[in-house]
Amino acid sequence: MKALVLAGGKGTRLRPLTHTSAKQLVPVANKPVLFYGLEALRDAGITSVGIIVGDTAHEVREAVGDGAKFGLDITYIPQQAPLGLAHCVLIAEEFLADEPFVMYLGDNFLVGGITSLVDAFRAADHDAQILLTKVAEPQFYGVAELGSDGEIVGLEEKPEHPRSDLAIVGVYIFSPVIHAAVRSITPSARGELEITDAITWLIDKGYRVHSHFVSGYWKDTGRLQDMLECNRIILEQIEPDISGTVDGRSEITGRVVVERGAVVEDSVLRGPIVIGADSKITSSYVGPFTSIGARCEVANTEIEYSIVLDSSSIRGVSRIGHSLIGRNVEVNRAEGMPNTHELMVGDHSKIQVRS
Ligand code: DAU
Repeated sequence: MKALVLAGGKGTRLRPLTHTSAKQLVPVANKPVLFYGLEALRDAGITSVGIIVGDTAHEVREAVGDGAKFGLDITYIPQQAPLGLAHCVLIAEEFLADEPFVMYLGDNFLVGGITSLVDAFRAADHDAQILLTKVAEPQFYGVAELGSDGEIVGLEEKPEHPRSDLAIVGVYIFSPVIHAAVRSITPSARGELEITDAITWLIDKGYRVHSHFVSGYWKDTGRLQDMLECNRIILEQIEPDISGTVDGRSEITGRVVVERGAVVEDSVLRGPIVIGADSKITSSYVGPFTSIGARCEVANTEIEYSIVLDSSSIRGVSRIGHSLIGRNVEVNRAEGMPNTHELMVGDHSKIQVRS
């Protein structure tokens, strides 16, 4: 079995971070979302993985390389524009050849891996297997309607009026018959070749499409609150490890990781948190569910329930919460009069001040 990982597309909901970088590389507990998916594929016994890449191809290639560090053999498949999930299958046909494959959306986050799903597909005689889970806002997802015996009676992509609260999770398993399906469908109203239409084609033609319910935690990390939630879930399980230096005036409680080369002085660290390599935390409070990236500086600041990417600095700010701060960002306290907020912020940023 092979895998097709989708890491192209546009990350409009995570702008401005995704103006300059791939949404699949935004870190959760200091590790890119995409890496969790690649590790899940490897753990399920899959080694041959095609990755669909778009405008951010360079960055994805730099982060993943040839796959050796994951125990994977990676083939990059460029997509000239985000023309839909089924379009990704269409352009990967040569790579996938006549093998069944897992299609994994690179921004999806599934705790507990996919090994049991792959095993179930291998054991059964299905043409496609999809994953479902109950969500509060089904209109933002592909939605499945099930019949009285649990069979799929309909699939719709982001319907205005969903017929159920069952969202399609971004991990699918297909037999090679999917290639005929993606060749047969036409673009949707939003101009994309929809995988939901391809699966509907399979059902209409009498192929066996099976659905499973997700037993563990799942999130599509497209939105800020989802990223922060994934970060919380992973940090809750993190193994405490102090490889950096923490001085005697600092206080550590709970699951705390201080990576190599990081220095913590005169600060309160209340886990679960991770402080990235070579970062410096001085006279600050870092509270639960916070990931500070590598080479950051946090001084005279209080921060919690947040993600800070590499090489950013926060000085004299109290208190930051529920925030996602990009790379090379500076957040400083303004001194003197007048009492103004001074901002230089990229396009599509979101700032909420309280003063
Ligand atoms: O997350 C689950 C949902 O994912 C499903 O419920 C929906 O049925 C499915 O269509 C998909 O919806 P999204 O709106 O979340 O898809 P998105 O455009 O975010 O793309 C998902 C991933 O695939 C993302 O990593 C970008 C990548 N992608 C997307 C498109 C449209 C590509 O690589 N190429 C593309 O053409």
